[in-house]
Amino acid sequence: LKPPVRVAITGAAGQIGYSLIFRVASGEMLGPNQPIILHLIDLPFAMTALNGVAMEIQDCAFPLVQGIVATDNQTVGFKDVNYALLVGAKPRGPGMERGDLLKDNGKIFTETGKYINDHASRDIKVVVVGNPCNTNCLILANQIKDIPKENFTAMTRLDHNRAQYQLADKLGVHSSDIRKIAIFGNHSPTMVPYIDQMTAKNHKATVDQQWVTQTFIPSVQQRGAEIIKARKLSSAASAGNAAMNHITTWVNGTPEGDYTSMAIPSDGSYGVPKGLIFSFPVTVKNGKYSIVQGLPISPFYQGLLDKTIKELVDERNAVDHLLK
Ligand code: NAI
Repeated sequence: LKPPVRVAITGAAGQIGYSLIFRVASGEMLGPNQPIILHLIDLPFAMTALNGVAMEIQDCAFPLVQGIVATDNQTVGFKDVNYALLVGAKPRGPGMERGDLLKDNGKIFTETGKYINDHASRDIKVVVVGNPCNTNCLILANQIKDIPKENFTAMTRLDHNRAQYQLADKLGVHSSDIRKIAIFGNHSPTMVPYIDQMTAKNHKATVDQQWVTQTFIPSVQQRGAEIIKARKLSSAASAGNAAMNHITTWVNGTPEGDYTSMAIPSDGSYGVPKGLIFSFPVTVKNGKYSIVQGLPISPFYQGLLDKTIKELVDERNAVDHLLK
């Protein structure tokens, strides 16, 4: 067994937390040889519920869990943490404008950024799940002084996985047969599922354009809303699953001949303004991701990219005061 690593999960008393924590504790995210110390963080009002979650983890007697820190104190919560899954965020309430959501979450992620900067391990890898996740990550990373900026990412893996399933279903193959697809842009309804290089069972695969524009893209973009309608609750288990996938791929790499989607600080690739937290197709090797370069962008896709870029620039402008 390796020495233990510390994994922080915020919003740990919430519904994503409840589906995610037990799978992380079982070793699904970091593998069967990696002992874990869990850092479960939530707000003061949620501490009773969080202690209940901690008791349940104890009662699973997980072989890999070497400690549980359940806290509302971020100094303790982020102390020496190696991986952080930032799920906790303020949800959008009835009648709340997107601008208000950005502002409220901006405060949360400014504060969390300071705690991570001051207390976390210098090798920490962070995935922001709490929405609006791209801009929350931008605000967080802005507080970081001496940890590499590329260690701060946001999650579009759920959108990627959703796209993979829709395509597999359409082509009559298994999800794992679908490769070389990606999500570009914001985790929002402007996201761009890119499939022009798709392969199915290692052969170039195409689907008709009308299905792409009228069915596929809207269904991936609106899948979250569809789940809320059906479940009366937002997607939780699939979101937790995707957050784990994000970290596992970041640590173990992408398979040869495939790529995945991660929202990462833009380096200017594909005309995306530098510094925006933007989802790109990436390959990962030895714990480092690289943007897949040179994918052909049709005028159709360029139109969609322009929209999602504009949305993220507008979000950045709305929180400009937090980025000083
Ligand atoms: P939930 O409401 O069940 O749980 C959220 C938890 O976060 C609550 O326990 C709350 O007390 C806690 N929390 C709020 N602010 C916090 C803070 N500053 N520090 C620590 N904990 C805090 O919500 P759920 O369903 O678990 O979703 C969490 C977030 O994940 C939401 O923002 C949701 O929009 C987002 N999400 C993102 C997805 C993505 O693909 N990026 C997919 C699905 C959800």
